[in-house]
Amino acid sequence: MTDLISSIKQAEITHSLTESEITSILKDDTVNEILFDSADKVRKKYVGNEVHLRGLIEFSNICRCNCCYCGLRKDNSTAQRYRMTFDEIILLAKKAKDFGYKTVVLQSGEDAFFDTDKMCKVITSIKTLGLALTLSIGEKSYEDYKAYKDAGADRYLLRIETTDKNLYQKLHPSMSFENRIRCLNDLKTLGFEVGTGCLVGLPAQSDKSLARDILFFKKLDADMIGLGPFIPCPKTPLQNEKGGTLIKALKVMALTRLLLPDINIPATTAMETLQENGRLLALQSGANVVMPNVTDEECKQKYTIYPGKAGLNNTAQEYKNSIVKKIESLGRTISQDYGFHKKRV
Ligand code: 5AD
Ligand code: SF4
Repeated sequence: MTDLISSIKQAEITHSLTESEITSILKDDTVNEILFDSADKVRKKYVGNEVHLRGLIEFSNICRCNCCYCGLRKDNSTAQRYRMTFDEIILLAKKAKDFGYKTVVLQSGEDAFFDTDKMCKVITSIKTLGLALTLSIGEKSYEDYKAYKDAGADRYLLRIETTDKNLYQKLHPSMSFENRIRCLNDLKTLGFEVGTGCLVGLPAQSDKSLARDILFFKKLDADMIGLGPFIPCPKTPLQNEKGGTLIKALKVMALTRLLLPDINIPATTAMETLQENGRLLALQSGANVVMPNVTDEECKQKYTIYPGKAGLNNTAQEYKNSIVKKIESLGRTISQDYGFHKKRV
């Protein structure tokens, strides 16, 4: 056995790897199948064969930020902006419930229109439906996060995007790496289930930097990790850059599963966007969550964080039918519970 294979096999049991081991595994594509297989085994052992479906509602694409990779950045004047009303959001949450989804994920740009009171009203109202609620609405103050938690929100997604501070600062004009970390720590302190994650294949991002991202997820003791390849988006400063690959994203995901064996990991839309069966490959390489989009057709087309987003040509109903079939064809089942992080280590 090569050293790399024995590191992977050992991590399957110890759930630990050094920065240099992770970097070497990321660099060497001859061990990919062994890595994916190990991550699949760890997934099965710790979180089982159930796949959790979370209904995604993209309720506003208005954003005050200027992330250099994202089509919804403030300076992209070609983006067609929308903001749902309270009633529209609640209607979609009910639709998610009717589909049998036990969790709703509310995602938006950093849209100041949805102030604390408006957000709390939405949260309270969705919680009366008996759903778990995840927020993905960006950087806020401790007080805001506390208000969301008090109103009943269960989980919060905020990707660190990259732990390379220099790269982070270059890609996020007028944002700060320290504030991002502060947000994640506040969310942990407040008792949210916290999701973070990174982009894979950003310009000038090294394998060593990705290894550090993975170790950061472990140090934060994240409950969920969402990651995907960077996909260059027109009308952004990175439009002419090379994008990330599906394989590298799957490798980062599989390594994350080895190190954080019992967390929830979605098979992300960006993975499916690069390859038609990307999500299925992810489910066989460590992932145990899928987030079907329930946003209505008109808005969904406008939530263009990157081009060619998978699922734009299917209705929510069609998508549900096809993903359930695919999941079952893998011998996996659709979970009937809320899918909270069951800590088992
Ligand atoms: N390619 C891939 N993912 C992107 N995101 C934003 N823009 C892109 C892009 N061009 C991701 C970010 C963000 C999440 C909501 O979408 O990681 O956290
Ligand atoms: Fe706004 Fe999120 Fe896009 Fe950044 S990644 S510009 S915060 S929508």
